[in-house]
Amino acid sequence: MMDRRVFLQTAGKTAALAATATKMTRLVGQEPEADQSGQGSVSGSDTIRLALIGAGIQGQGDTHTALQVPGVKLVAVADCYDGRLAHTKEMWGADVFTTRDYREILARKDVDAVLIATPDHWHKQAACDAMKAGKDVYLEKPMIHLYSDGPEIIETWKSTNRILQVGSQRVSSVVYAKAKELLDSGAIGKLNMVTARWDRNSSIGAWNYSIPLDASTTTCDWMRFEGTAPKMDFSAERFFQWRKWKDYGSGVAGDLFVHLFSGTHFITGSHGPTRAMATGAIRFWKDGRDADDVLLALFDYPEGFNLSLHVNFVDGGEESEGFLFTGSEGLMEIAGNKVTVTRTPLETEPGYTVSTFTDAMQKEYVAQYRKKYPVMHPSGAPPEEVETFAAARGYSDSYDHFKNFFNSVRTRKPVVEDPVFGFRAAGAALLANLSVEKGNVVHWKPETMELA
Ligand SMILES: NC(=O)c1ccc[n+]([C@@H]2O[C@H](COP(=O)([O-])OP(=O)(O)OC[C@H]3O[C@@H](n4cnc5c(N)ncnc54)[C@H](O)[C@@H]3O)[C@@H](O)[C@H]2O)c1
Repeated sequence: MMDRRVFLQTAGKTAALAATATKMTRLVGQEPEADQSGQGSVSGSDTIRLALIGAGIQGQGDTHTALQVPGVKLVAVADCYDGRLAHTKEMWGADVFTTRDYREILARKDVDAVLIATPDHWHKQAACDAMKAGKDVYLEKPMIHLYSDGPEIIETWKSTNRILQVGSQRVSSVVYAKAKELLDSGAIGKLNMVTARWDRNSSIGAWNYSIPLDASTTTCDWMRFEGTAPKMDFSAERFFQWRKWKDYGSGVAGDLFVHLFSGTHFITGSHGPTRAMATGAIRFWKDGRDADDVLLALFDYPEGFNLSLHVNFVDGGEESEGFLFTGSEGLMEIAGNKVTVTRTPLETEPGYTVSTFTDAMQKEYVAQYRKKYPVMHPSGAPPEEVETFAAARGYSDSYDHFKNFFNSVRTRKPVVEDPVFGFRAAGAALLANLSVEKGNVVHWKPETMELA
């Protein structure tokens, strides 16, 4: 990635500036409406009564965002750690019903929709139980933990006719919508390659989340947390840092690749890759985990481009993530809440490499070449155009993703990220783990969402 962007920034200070036209445009991005009550602006029968299942880091963060959408009220919370149940009452009021058993929430008539932010190994069961109980569902990414979760969630979604949105918020982002528009309009010509990366260089980035001082079998419902995972003695690390073990998550593939797949699929309109090969290992965090901290993977897309992904938790440099879309006539980069397109027009002549020929041959060759290709740009190559689109300050794609979800709950119109999209993104991500495990190239049928 050094590259072109760095070059262009540097080039701005040099003569290359003359050949580069740079523009910056602010994208319209909605900022969350202010809400003093913390409960959304409740408006009579229109109010959506929300319950949270899994009130950890993301569940609490998501709930704060969801409650900024007007007409949403939190009525109940389920979690397996008492401290988090107590904290939800501290934040959202003593009248919020709390329980360790989410089935008590699903049995309540005053719950319209649930937000599921449990560890991944509970996603399928909680989502299917909720839909069968008549609730609409916002299900955090990755939609699946195991391949078998995908068809079950999709079938339950169809048979219950519920709304289910998967929580990869970028699919609702104005930045990704702009990137899609740019790609569709041919801004970078034919797409040949997408490169995406996520580099971290911190203990928390490597999932070493804090363990509360009172963590024990008294305060944590260990058996409920374990669910269908292999049974073991209580481990506070496994409970609070579950991403480090594949019994509960799917490593960096399910945690981070899935965001990169959601972005790639949304922007390109593709349903997914057909072939994957990956390599990964625990390079630095040899702390008892079994999920790799470095993962590199390559994917073939039937639309005629390749995708390369890497996640690295031992990056010695700056923490960063982003995408580079490489086309025949330019590059498109997404970094943070910005998309930058660099348009490089296709060459109008093939060029020549004649300096090793005799002087007479060089002269003759160039003379004939110039007859065929008259000089088009006397002052040099045609100008490269760089254009950046940035979301408004404070823009939150999570807010827009919740707004889209609640809108579908009210109108019963399709969501932006249904379980078919969710399975295609998470199923593609899991190919990387499968390839590492097998030491092989693996194949996938994106249309039917099956391993080939
Ligand atoms: N969209 C995003 O950008 C994003 C970011 C972070 C996490 N996530 C996803 O959110 C989910 C939660 O991640 P987290 O970081 O908040 O984890 P976390 O460990 O902080 O929270 C998970 C909570 O779920 C509870 N839980 C476990 N089993 C349960 C059950 N059966 N019933 C009710 N509660 C249960 C745990 O007690 C815990 O408090 C994961 O699937 C993760 O991939 C998404």
